[in-house]
Amino acid sequence: MKEHFNHRAELFDSPKNTFLAQLVYQQIKRQVPDLSGKTVLDFGGGTGLITLPLAKDAKSVTLVDIADKMLDQARIKAKKQELQNLTFLCRDLLAEPLEDTFDLIIVSRVLHHLPDLDKTLALFHRHLKDQGQLFIADYTKTSKSHHGFIIADLEEDLRQGGFSDIKSQILYSSDHLFLWNPSQLFLTSAKK
Ligand SMILES: C[S@@+](CC[C@H](N)C(=O)[O-])C[C@H]1O[C@@H](n2cnc3c(N)ncnc32)[C@H](O)[C@@H]1O
Repeated sequence: MKEHFNHRAELFDSPKNTFLAQLVYQQIKRQVPDLSGKTVLDFGGGTGLITLPLAKDAKSVTLVDIADKMLDQARIKAKKQELQNLTFLCRDLLAEPLEDTFDLIIVSRVLHHLPDLDKTLALFHRHLKDQGQLFIADYTKTSKSHHGFIIADLEEDLRQGGFSDIKSQILYSSDHLFLWNPSQLFLTSAKK
């Protein structure tokens, strides 16, 4: 996984990836219009397509990713934009969690890469402050053969994992969205 994204890091900010990240960012901003006092963890934040616009408004953003070359791209852009409230961490939180807790956790197009959903949701729960909010953006599963999520199942997993106030919406649909399959980009929010 790490090597897969390290190889693609310099070309990751394609029109498609930029467009999808903007949809996610805009919807989070709509749901949390005042980010000024918020501490944010962008889990698997990659090249910072969501982190950097968030950092313009948030108190601080921590971008965690296992692929160092993806983080390098984010660092270059953050420097150009003179953003000071960012922390970059190349680390697998599943193996090495943080002591810190956050107001918001963003997990955009990462969860389908991770092998153990329940363990990962527990990790997010642990890293959220009380009343903190989790945003998961990912792809819907539309055929038996491909990865992705059935939204109702994910919502149930979140409920079982101790989250409440769970809401989902579809942000975008296309015939070739995910692994050349028809799919939808959804955003699910949940509170601790
Ligand atoms: C499709 S990219 C999404 C990047 C960004 N969230 C976005 O929406 O533009 C998936 C990212 O998840 C990262 N990733 C995969 N497994 C991870 C893990 N266990 N911990 C942290 N990051 C991970 C990859 O390195 C990659 O940067």
